[in-house]
Amino acid sequence: MNSAYLYNVVDEINDDLKQINPLVLAAFCVSSTYLACQLWNMHRDDIGIRRRVKNYVFNFVKSIPMVRKQIDTQLKEVKDELVKSLVYKDGPNEFITKLPEQGINPDELINLARVYDRMEGPRYLEGRVSGAVFSDESNTDEMAVYQEVFRRFAWSNPLWPKLFPGVRKMESEVIRICCNLMNGDEESCGTMSTGGTMSIMLACLAHRNRALKRGVQFPEMVIPSTCHAAFTKAAEVFRIKAVKIPVDPQTYKVDLKKMRSAISSRTCMLVGSAPNFPYGTVDDIAAIGEIGVKYDIPVHVDACLGGFLLSFLETDYQWDFRVPGVTSISADTHKYGLTPKGSSVVLYKNASYLHNQYFCDPDWQGGIYASSTLEGSRAGVNIALCWASLLFQGQDNYRRYAEDIVATTKKIREGISAIPGLKMLGSEDVCIVSWTCDQGLDIHRFHTEMSRRNWQLSGLQFPSAVHIMVTMNHTKEGVAERLISDCKEAVDFIRNSPPSDSDRKSEAAIYGMSQSIPDRSIVNEFAAAYLDATYSMIKRSS
Ligand SMILES: *Cc1c(COP(=O)(O)O)cnc(C)c1O
Ligand SMILES: *[C@@H]1O[C@H](CO)[C@@H](O)[C@H](O)[C@H]1NC(C)=O
Ligand SMILES: *[C@@H]1O[C@H](CO)[C@@H](O)[C@H](O)[C@H]1NC(C)=O
Repeated sequence: MNSAYLYNVVDEINDDLKQINPLVLAAFCVSSTYLACQLWNMHRDDIGIRRRVKNYVFNFVKSIPMVRKQIDTQLKEVKDELVKSLVYKDGPNEFITKLPEQGINPDELINLARVYDRMEGPRYLEGRVSGAVFSDESNTDEMAVYQEVFRRFAWSNPLWPKLFPGVRKMESEVIRICCNLMNGDEESCGTMSTGGTMSIMLACLAHRNRALKRGVQFPEMVIPSTCHAAFTKAAEVFRIKAVKIPVDPQTYKVDLKKMRSAISSRTCMLVGSAPNFPYGTVDDIAAIGEIGVKYDIPVHVDACLGGFLLSFLETDYQWDFRVPGVTSISADTHKYGLTPKGSSVVLYKNASYLHNQYFCDPDWQGGIYASSTLEGSRAGVNIALCWASLLFQGQDNYRRYAEDIVATTKKIREGISAIPGLKMLGSEDVCIVSWTCDQGLDIHRFHTEMSRRNWQLSGLQFPSAVHIMVTMNHTKEGVAERLISDCKEAVDFIRNSPPSDSDRKSEAAIYGMSQSIPDRSIVNEFAAAYLDATYSMIKRSS
């Protein structure tokens, strides 16, 4: 192409443009530039253009009266089922809705509380529930310690460290103990939180803030598809785009090649789980750490489950602060740390990372306001209970428990993988065993059959599967064996009998069906119905 030709083209364009009003031309340029910028930003922000378009189309379809009516009918049906399943079989069929005119006297109140306590079906005590309760309620010494600690710290609030120096000291000791457990050096630090989700959200907040400070307008987190939903919750709350990376179909660990190629100048953190909730596999944290170092991106390890197991075991897993590149770790004291519910820790490699989690309003009329976590006032009693529980257990108990949990996990895996018709997902023995059906058997029917045998397994999706999170009571004699034999029985049963009507309407079946709904916002509506039901005051029809 020679330059004379180019000049010709430019001249021609100029001639054409002369016929247009300059004002219109300017307006066109400004508005098209504006539109292009908007689209570009939409493409990069946390929702993204594709989801916006999809939402628009689905919302339009849902607004068609006939479609809406159909959805509403279905919604009502499911809602009624949900409410029915949540209304307790025992306990009085009436609700307190107003403050009593006069306070109730202690004896009467304690009796009333006992009535509610009896409603908490003792099913989890028999070790037939996945996860949920980790420690051994029957230990009376432990309970006596907690009662005394509660009595002394119920009113304490670490928002006022000078008023409550004891609780301040306890929190710093819990943090230091956990940093040492996870092999942080003296620079390592962190805060306590109220649970795993909160710890994860705090880490996401900190790493997002680091990116914002570095001028990234639309931060992104690169996460394994198997990581906990707390990460997508953090993404939604803090407006971070979540880029999900699938796991390797053989190992069920995050695909490192795909993880590396998903990194961009906007990536604010990488995530690995040790282990993850669905399959119990531990991502290759050493490799993720290497990527983090190479691109100067923080790496968060979600050890909510594994923190208090892997720390006490001789394993080949590399997952803690010894791994170069690991900048933060979440670990749940209230899971395998065996503390009462309401405590967890989020730890950082050094104070630079932690400071991005801190909040300060220097201009508040109520005074300069600073807080280390998302809460304002915090329950000092949760800190005190956690502190007491760590010291009560000590290394020897934690080690013994961790060994028992891993041994039981292994036993369950070996037993279930030997059953024809069941297929393992993932192969690592930490604390979770996941499996699905093959040979044409229906996993949802299997799940229902297990529920009928009083096993409360968790249902997984994409692909449909079930898992059990092994807790202390599963390590007791006969529990694992019973699980395996019930699995065998359930498989035999569904192999030899056609599905019944109630099978097709079972919770597991509905759960399975919901995976095929292309408009996920309908699933959201069902979820809202479920959450509403958990607050419902619907009376049993007798
Ligand atoms: C349970 C869990 C969490 C979240 O903990 P909560 O205490 O339930 O908020 C996070 N990650 C993993 C792997 C978990 O199993
Ligand atoms: C575990 O099982 C025993 C009975 O075997 C029961 O007394 C105890 O409360 C159970 N604990 C938990 C946490 O399930
Ligand atoms: C924390 O660690 C990072 C990365 O290793 C380093 O750049 C930073 O200077 C450290 N901050 C402090 C306060 O030591």
